[in-house]
Amino acid sequence: MKNKILVVYYSLEGNTKLIAETVSKAVSGDMLEIKPKKDIDPNSKMRYLIGGKKSIIKEKPELLPYNIKSENYDVLFIGTPVWAGNFAPAMRSFFARTNLKHKKIALFSCNGGNNGKTFKNMKSELGENEFLGEIEFKNPLKNDTKKNVEKAKKWAEDVCKKL
Ligand SMILES: Cc1cc2nc3c(=O)[nH]c(=O)nc-3n(C[C@H](O)[C@H](O)[C@H](O)COP(=O)(O)O)c2cc1C
Repeated sequence: MKNKILVVYYSLEGNTKLIAETVSKAVSGDMLEIKPKKDIDPNSKMRYLIGGKKSIIKEKPELLPYNIKSENYDVLFIGTPVWAGNFAPAMRSFFARTNLKHKKIALFSCNGGNNGKTFKNMKSELGENEFLGEIEFKNPLKNDTKKNVEKAKKWAEDVCKKL
């Protein structure tokens, strides 16, 4: 039977969104964008400070409603920006309300150059699943966008070869 694939992501400034869209196109997966009800202003100069604190105190913001059930998928690509060396708070809310078990999961992130403990922490939240791969991108909207899109596409295809 054909694997059902979902790409779940949060993005404040569009980088993770770009990679999520690229991955979803490459693997013909559905998409689920996670958004807090009250998100930070992406143009605010204070966004690093505000978001960094939210990440450090492990905030779980209330999310905008969505009706895709992640549990109904076999394979999940999960993407987040790196905030204070960790996955973004919106992802923490997603993990808290989702019970993923025995799934095949691949992780991706966008950062400014330091991925910190993002993947390690995501894996510990996700527990009993099989991890097919992980990859990070450095601000792909600003750096080598075309090359990064190619990199994302190839990675997603390679992950699917493992299915
Ligand atoms: C609140 C906040 C905290 C951040 N913390 C880090 C960090 O610890 N390490 C890093 O390399 N980049 C950090 N960044 C940069 C983002 O991870 C990076 O710009 C990423 O590409 C943004 O993804 P997005 O456009 O999908 O939101 C931070 C950005 C924000 C807004």
